[in-house]
Amino acid sequence: MFTSIASMVLCFTLGALAAPSATSLTQRSTTCGGLNGIGGFFDTTPNVTLSAWNRSLPNANDTGVPLVLVPIGERGGPGNAVHLENLATLVSVATNLWPSITLEEGTLIADFVPSNISSFTVATQAIAGAPLQFSTSVQPLPNNPVFCAVASTSAEGGGPRGPALAVGTDTDHFSLCQSGRANIIIYQPSVTNDGSYDFNTCYNVTVIFDDLV
Ligand SMILES: *[C@@H]1O[C@H](CO)[C@@H](O)[C@H](O)[C@H]1NC(C)=O
Ligand SMILES: *[C@@H]1O[C@H](CO)[C@@H](O)[C@H](O)[C@H]1NC(C)=O
Ligand SMILES: *[C@@H]1O[C@H](CO)[C@@H](O)[C@H](O)[C@H]1NC(C)=O
Ligand SMILES: *[C@@H]1O[C@H](CO)[C@@H](O)[C@H](O)[C@H]1NC(C)=O
Ligand SMILES: *[C@@H]1O[C@H](CO)[C@@H](O)[C@H](O)[C@H]1NC(C)=O
Repeated sequence: MFTSIASMVLCFTLGALAAPSATSLTQRSTTCGGLNGIGGFFDTTPNVTLSAWNRSLPNANDTGVPLVLVPIGERGGPGNAVHLENLATLVSVATNLWPSITLEEGTLIADFVPSNISSFTVATQAIAGAPLQFSTSVQPLPNNPVFCAVASTSAEGGGPRGPALAVGTDTDHFSLCQSGRANIIIYQPSVTNDGSYDFNTCYNVTVIFDDLV
């Protein structure tokens, strides 16, 4: 493992010095902050669910509180409407139309309930101070390969069972915050926000992938 990484890096360096070739550039992984496949970082995992692990209070079990997509509105018009969803605790929204999630080469994809109309749901927004947001469209949506899974190293020490969701390599700055009646996931919550959540209700969580055992 170490040797192959070292030789890859060396190869890349020499290649870059000699004549930068398209091959050596495209073979370098850019997901997970360039760490995909190294030290517990991985960018692909099919058919899982997400949950929130409370970082400040004891959790009821080693999987945490189930999270689901909640529709919040749409933009665009007839024919090219894009529906928007946040990630909320199931207990605060009661219904779930996206039973599973897939992380595919860094893009977080949600699978809509089987229906005759094919649609695409992709996590399109993970920016500081704002909700983690998904978009749904009948048109294919572009990949947004900013996410990563980070294997848990602390299960025996009372941590969550599954790997943690990261933006790049950052697993540590998700919070659950109240947004109306929904309790939603915010990335790096801020007291100055667009009014979509109440900062005073936020508490720190780790977003974890379940169903991987
Ligand atoms: C995902 O997992 C569930 C439960 O294990 C299973 O019923 C379902 O068929 C799986 N879906 C896919 C697309 O593999
Ligand atoms: C998590 O901890 C916070 C306090 O930091 C508490 O207010 C909240 O109710 C807890 N949530 C769950 C789901 O246990
Ligand atoms: C873990 O506890 C939460 C409540 O904190 C509950 O919603 C969830 O269903 C539990 N998971 C399992 C696998 O029992
Ligand atoms: C969906 O498909 C089912 C069976 O394949 C059919 O009975 C139903 O009418 C279809 N619904 C729509 C909205 O096309
Ligand atoms: C929550 O996380 C933020 C950012 O890492 C940190 O500044 C804050 O102290 C944490 N709050 C608690 C209650 O741990």
